[in-house]
Amino acid sequence: MTQLVDTYGRVHRDLRVSLTDRCSLRCTYCMPHDFAAWLPNESLLTTDELITVIEAAVSQGIEEIRLTGGEPLLRPDIVEIVARINGIKNAPKLSMTTNGLALAKLAKPLVDAGLERINISLDTLSRERFKEMTFRDRIDDVFAGIAAARAAGLKPLKINSVLLRGINDDESAALLKWALSEGLNLRFIEQMPLDAGGIWSRTDLITADEIYADLQQEFTLSPVDNRGSSPAEEFYINGGPEIVGIIGSVTRPFCGACDRVRLTSDGQIRNCLFSMSETDLRSILRNPDISHDQKYEAITAAFHETVMAKLPGHGINEPNFIQPLRPMSAIGG
Ligand code: 5AD
Ligand code: SF4
Repeated sequence: MTQLVDTYGRVHRDLRVSLTDRCSLRCTYCMPHDFAAWLPNESLLTTDELITVIEAAVSQGIEEIRLTGGEPLLRPDIVEIVARINGIKNAPKLSMTTNGLALAKLAKPLVDAGLERINISLDTLSRERFKEMTFRDRIDDVFAGIAAARAAGLKPLKINSVLLRGINDDESAALLKWALSEGLNLRFIEQMPLDAGGIWSRTDLITADEIYADLQQEFTLSPVDNRGSSPAEEFYINGGPEIVGIIGSVTRPFCGACDRVRLTSDGQIRNCLFSMSETDLRSILRNPDISHDQKYEAITAAFHETVMAKLPGHGINEPNFIQPLRPMSAIGG
């Protein structure tokens, strides 16, 4: 079987697919509250185009698809997209990262269409802070979304939290207590330099070490082995079986085990969140002069080229690091 192997021997099995760069929130670490540089609608891949790309990727050894955004649930045909991905030959495992706002309505239809796993982003338990961090007064919709995801049978339910200095960095233990009481699997993610507003600063970064030390004040953490390609370092809480994850994207990079490749909503593939170049699949997909089979072949070749060009690491800690032009919302987390 063909595999997407890079020059460092990393086999790529995970494709992150951004379905839209738009979002119903404005998390400050992602985009400014008055952000308006959206991709034009006609540049977004259609559902047929998406399926062609995913089929080609699956034929090259992609085993897992994670749907992201922006906010993937803003895509009007999201349930159909999930169903169609599930209908692909050798259907990949299918998961989603969402802000949860629309889950109260969509969790059940998504599960019925074949969605298996979900990560919901929530950084605070306080309504006021949520408003301050996202510029929208919608924390209740997230809680309702979590409840709906649970009722629809999505398990494990993962929650992603980003801590920002002076804003919600005092909430790590409270978030963990809440997650434990709700049966949720919490993971803290270090803030990465990917925001459209350019607010990231190394000195303000709440590091994985800091989060660990804070949690140790209230819980006993012991490391879980077998990390595999997962970016999260996991810890048993007070002896387990519950687990908390800490994703040290910046200070404890996991690039050596990275198995991801990314498709932006406008049809570009990227070998890293931080890569400075992209490969354009949209122009292949929309080339009127070539057949479906030729498109498929060209897309397959583009995946291999992109993966072969992958650097060993993200370089955030190197002096010449340059933040990519696209924000997280346009790349897909
Ligand atoms: N750094 C770290 N995580 C981020 N996310 C969005 N922007 C950033 C950033 N700059 C997170 C979201 C979501 C996931 C897709 O990525 O909170 O959980
Ligand atoms: Fe939306 Fe996620 Fe960006 Fe927040 S981090 S604005 S939820 S895409």
